[in-house]
Amino acid sequence: HIDGSLPTITDPETERNLLEAAKIIRETDNTVGFPTETVYGLGGSSLNDQSVLNIYKAKNRPSDNPLISHVSSIDQLNRKIYGQIQVSDVLQNIPQVYRNLTEKLWPGPLTILLPVPQSSTLSKYTTADQPTFAVRIPSNPVARALIALSDVPIAAPSANQSTRPSPTLASHVYHDLKGRIPLILDGGACTVGVESTVVDGLVTPPLLLRPGGFTWEQIRAMGGEDWSNCKVENKKTIKAGEKVRTPGMKYRHYSPQAKVVLFTPKGGKMNLSQRLDDVKKTIEEQIRDVRNFAVLSTLLFPSNMINYPNGIYRSLGHTNTEIQTNLFACLREVDEMENVDIIFVEGIDDEGEGLAVMNRLRKAASNNIILF
Ligand code: TXA
Ligand code: MG
Repeated sequence: HIDGSLPTITDPETERNLLEAAKIIRETDNTVGFPTETVYGLGGSSLNDQSVLNIYKAKNRPSDNPLISHVSSIDQLNRKIYGQIQVSDVLQNIPQVYRNLTEKLWPGPLTILLPVPQSSTLSKYTTADQPTFAVRIPSNPVARALIALSDVPIAAPSANQSTRPSPTLASHVYHDLKGRIPLILDGGACTVGVESTVVDGLVTPPLLLRPGGFTWEQIRAMGGEDWSNCKVENKKTIKAGEKVRTPGMKYRHYSPQAKVVLFTPKGGKMNLSQRLDDVKKTIEEQIRDVRNFAVLSTLLFPSNMINYPNGIYRSLGHTNTEIQTNLFACLREVDEMENVDIIFVEGIDDEGEGLAVMNRLRKAASNNIILF
């Protein structure tokens, strides 16, 4: 539907719910929760100041952290954001390294920064007064239908309370935002599980601003060789006050209530059982004064590593893709349902999905990072 045609809706109840949500977005200042392939979004019209202010308010988000506008097609981007200017001209004028990506990876978890046109009708709150705006065409059919039916670009951050892990189930949105928004569309579990990959659409050499649903390897394969030496802006955590191209990167993020301790693999040939013994010792030291704790394993931590009645063990998955899909739901489950004081997480290498997963986990753990 990249050409602007509407997705086909066959179920009457689905249609009613979509129309109700679209009506809220088009005709009111209110916001709705909706699924995308990455995480659930909290959406309102990108063009309406009050809707956008209500998004910031509902999730307690600092208003200097701009929002992504979601469009259902290139045609909608053209009509609704660029007005008179043909967007095809705009996309012709961005560097080829980015054009390759929009041509091959939309619809999907790719967000690109484009210049705000003179003729723009975007709310200044959507862009937080930046000279660029962020845009993506999601692939989730519920998201696509909602945007097309609303007939406006939908500004949407992840639908969590600010600082908490992003929601990948409708129940996560309900948990964080109940009483604050009138409607949540339940589209089941998000398949990707982390937010979109954000790239700068203006500067060369190309810049990856946030690792996400498309891996760096996929970006490189689709965007061309120039991406091989691209800078990854936020591999390290950016300090408050520092000037950043992606404002969201300076805020606390993805944090459960519990303290998160992240073990990151240092690689090398050191004996595995020795490494796991060291991990076990570290965990034992840290759990002396806590009521209960969780261990989230990935590839190496065995289930019999901890044997305490107040400890729970969960596997995040056995492949990087599974780990990425399960990450936020698992953090939320042990935090909200099991109410643990500490979550120990086995990290993975920064390859493939590992780059986005470790980016989120490093932020969740802030300073509690231990090499193993
Ligand atoms: O997958 C996703 O991207 C999800 C779903 C709902 O689409 N959305 C999402 O939005 O993750 P949010 O608000 O949590 O993250 C948007 C990121 C922030 O880091 C923000 O600072 C950056 O994009 N951003 C947005 N507009 C920008 C702009 N004009 N210039 C620089 N960075 C921008
Ligand atoms: Mg977010």
